[in-house]
Amino acid sequence: MLTDNIRKALNDQLQAEFNSAYLYLSMSAYFDDQGLEGMANWMTVQFEEEQSHALKLFRYIIERGGRPELQAIEQPQRDWDSPVAAFEASLDHERMISGRINDLADLAVKEKDHATHNMLQWFISEQVEEEANVESIVSQMKMVGDAGPGLFMIDREMKGRTFVNEAAGA
Ligand code: FEO
Repeated sequence: MLTDNIRKALNDQLQAEFNSAYLYLSMSAYFDDQGLEGMANWMTVQFEEEQSHALKLFRYIIERGGRPELQAIEQPQRDWDSPVAAFEASLDHERMISGRINDLADLAVKEKDHATHNMLQWFISEQVEEEANVESIVSQMKMVGDAGPGLFMIDREMKGRTFVNEAAGA
């Protein structure tokens, strides 16, 4: 049984994961419009990952006897000043999400909800990976500049990213 505070916080995080999914889908549309298909693909995979994070929380709430409450999803930003600005915005976003997950873990400790604290460890590790991935993309992009052959090489590499549902069953 979840306490009211934990249930509310998990539902809010469920919404935050869907907001993230929507933001990345919007970034995918932006990159596609810029003719950067690899980056568009990378963001579509990111969209799928975020949905899997939301679903993991959805299922966890049910498993603990709660009922997920689906809240409105924010309209995401549509345009960015440059490809690197979009990835920097993604990094800021992931840092914000890491902060939220840490707050949730703090709340789980405060409410003595060890099961939720344990479930959140997966998200804590995932955030480390997500931040590191985007940080590395941002620094590569800064090295090659916002146009030219270097950018297109990075874009080509990003075409190969595929979605693996690591959130399922973990
Ligand atoms: Fe679900 Fe990108 O954090």
